[in-house]
Amino acid sequence: MSRFQQVCETLHHSPKAWLVTGVAGFIGSNLLETLLKLDQRVVGLDNFATGHQHNLDEVRSVVTADQWQRFTFIQGDICQLADCQRACVNVDYVLHQAALGSVPRSIDDPILTNSSNIDGFLNMLVAARDAKVQSFTYAASSSTYGDHPGLPKVEDTIGKPLSPYAVTKYVNELYADVFSRCYGFHTIGLRYFNVFGKRQDPNGAYAAVIPKWAAAMIQGEDVYINGDGETSRDFCFIENTVQANILAATCADSAALNHVYNVAVSGRTTLNDLFGALKTSLIENGVVYHKSPVYRAFRAGDVRHSQADITKIKSLLGYDPVFNIDSGIRKAMAWYATALSHE
Ligand SMILES: NC(=O)c1ccc[n+]([C@@H]2O[C@H](COP(=O)([O-])OP(=O)(O)OC[C@H]3O[C@@H](n4cnc5c(N)ncnc54)[C@H](O)[C@@H]3O)[C@@H](O)[C@H]2O)c1
Repeated sequence: MSRFQQVCETLHHSPKAWLVTGVAGFIGSNLLETLLKLDQRVVGLDNFATGHQHNLDEVRSVVTADQWQRFTFIQGDICQLADCQRACVNVDYVLHQAALGSVPRSIDDPILTNSSNIDGFLNMLVAARDAKVQSFTYAASSSTYGDHPGLPKVEDTIGKPLSPYAVTKYVNELYADVFSRCYGFHTIGLRYFNVFGKRQDPNGAYAAVIPKWAAAMIQGEDVYINGDGETSRDFCFIENTVQANILAATCADSAALNHVYNVAVSGRTTLNDLFGALKTSLIENGVVYHKSPVYRAFRAGDVRHSQADITKIKSLLGYDPVFNIDSGIRKAMAWYATALSHE
């Protein structure tokens, strides 16, 4: 039995209270779904800046009525300390996901990104510390590796940030570290590498590449590749990310606390290969896309290659990613083909 299976078994028999911020978003709603299916009590906080009520509705439709009863939603803003304090009452574990994602959004409006991602983060840290929660796990980002050219990326070696977004995510790590030193507060940062899966928003100017391309293919529209298509990423299926969060939050090993960890599969897929993989997977779901991709200029702030070393999270947290990119894409495309064909 894997460490994750053991933890799930324990939680099932001895439920805990969790706070998921950003619960109406992509990663937050997937965390909510898994936790409710494990019969946990969950408080969710979101201001719907980029999240959606329909994500919560979908979770409701796949859990039992009893499980849904264990969920309390607070519509609130992490930029308001009072909202964070309200959400932290009687919580054991915090999974802090709320933030404004997207490198281009942060380049367009750095003040907006800064306020949710730094001011909001600090409010959450203070509220969680004062509520004496057992642990605070937060969404960090692979963007923190910035301009460092080394591959695969190892946690201790980072470069200079390439965007305001990357600055905010690095500041999160600095604040979390200082809170562990000054207040003995337990934090774990998870540097996500291009997470994908069901409920990731395909709409809007700042959509991530996989949902954006899936939607374009399903709707017969052009797919744009920024640059020559040889830019590569370590795409990580959502269920691996959920596993990492639950392992981090419940970790009782003091040697593993107050660290940051890469969360990925340690693979590397180019955008050109991704295009082919999505096209093939959609054919299996009855969607045939005939167009070739349209190449355009490289995008400011993007790193050229990204691939994680996941030795640290495997050895210290017992992380064991179950999905590789192919199995993840199969599940994700089946979901998009159903969800978007009805639009
Ligand atoms: N998806 C990825 O590949 C990826 C990669 C690295 C890091 N991350 C981080 O993971 C976290 C979750 O990302 P996601 O992909 O689920 O994005 P998402 O946009 O789907 O979810 C973010 C959620 O946070 C909420 N939110 C934003 N600002 C808020 C505020 N001020 N108060 C309350 N709620 C607020 C949004 O409404 C949304 O529901 C973010 O912190 C993001 O920076 C994601």
